[in-house]
Amino acid sequence: MLVTGRNGAGKTNFLEALHLGTQGFSPRTRHDAHLVRQGAERSRVVLDGRRRDTPTMVEVTLGLHEPKRARLNGAAIRSAEHLRSELATLVFTPDRLAVVKGGPAVRRAYLDRSLGRLLPARAALPVEYGAALGQRNAALRRVAHGLSDLAPLAPWTERVAALGAALVAARRDTAALLAPAVRERAGELGLGELALGYDGVAPTAAELDARLDRDVDRGVTGLGPHLHEVSIRADGRDLRTLGSQGEQRLAVLSLLLAEAELLTARGHAPPLVLLDDALSELDEPRRRVLSERLGRTGQTVITATGAEAMPLAPAQLLVVTPGAVEAV
Ligand SMILES: Nc1ncnc2c1ncn2[C@@H]1O[C@H](COP(=O)(O)OP(=O)(O)OP(=O)(O)O)[C@@H](O)[C@H]1O
Ligand SMILES: [Mg+2]
Repeated sequence: MLVTGRNGAGKTNFLEALHLGTQGFSPRTRHDAHLVRQGAERSRVVLDGRRRDTPTMVEVTLGLHEPKRARLNGAAIRSAEHLRSELATLVFTPDRLAVVKGGPAVRRAYLDRSLGRLLPARAALPVEYGAALGQRNAALRRVAHGLSDLAPLAPWTERVAALGAALVAARRDTAALLAPAVRERAGELGLGELALGYDGVAPTAAELDARLDRDVDRGVTGLGPHLHEVSIRADGRDLRTLGSQGEQRLAVLSLLLAEAELLTARGHAPPLVLLDDALSELDEPRRRVLSERLGRTGQTVITATGAEAMPLAPAQLLVVTPGAVEAV
């Protein structure tokens, strides 16, 4: 589905509503108040669709003075963010270029989000590791301030080591799962051999203990998966520093398309794919390849300022004007 409209017409807004309705949060902002129309008190998104053959209805409401709520087929969801364990939506916005261009933390967060979708049984690991790390760091600072001896630290060191090892294994599995499809999609988009590299090794409790003095001094754990690098290379070139704008965009799109394909191949319902402004900066042959691929990738909603940006006719064309979306 192609969504067109002039600058400021509301295309991103429309995509954001689809994301909020299926994932419980915006891909653009953490501040839910920004999702309420200025001057209004509340927002509501209601989506009616099908997952495979199952009719599915979601409703998300949020307000300036009320908590966010979500319902799936009439039943209340524990927290709106919990929707994402039920429905998969993959999104590209120009902000997502940070996965390639940004610092290591953005790439780790990306890999951990993919991990959550591709390996749902291990989805909690990044958060559990982060919580254990936070506890260990707090214990380190208590030692540094003379409020505690080293004894309370030991269980947290064990836990950080154990969860760290599990997280590293899950990240490696995720990268390995993605690798073949990423190579294929990138090859098709003329990006050469694209590789998502993760070769982190989790520290043992003994290795963490060996640098205890330094960690107490700094009040943080200086070793572990929270510091690991994830690389994105095309034919061996690090795209963070050496990729062109278009290549960085193609890399993010290849990762997204690969994941969509993999989710479907692993028995999940095909994810909803939202692509905001994905076609700009791409040359005509690449826009064509991408358009062809999108025709085979489950339901995709893509925005552009004009229909001519997409070389193939979309299954459905929507035109957005301020306050209205019209099918043409
Ligand atoms: N909470 C809000 N209340 C009122 N207006 C808002 C709110 N959030 C965004 N807007 C406005 O909605 C309009 C539509 O923005 P949107 O980003 O959807 O446009 P767009 O069609 O994607 O434009 P572009 O082609 O430039 O990307 C903008 O003028 C924006 O300032
Ligand atoms: Mg926009």
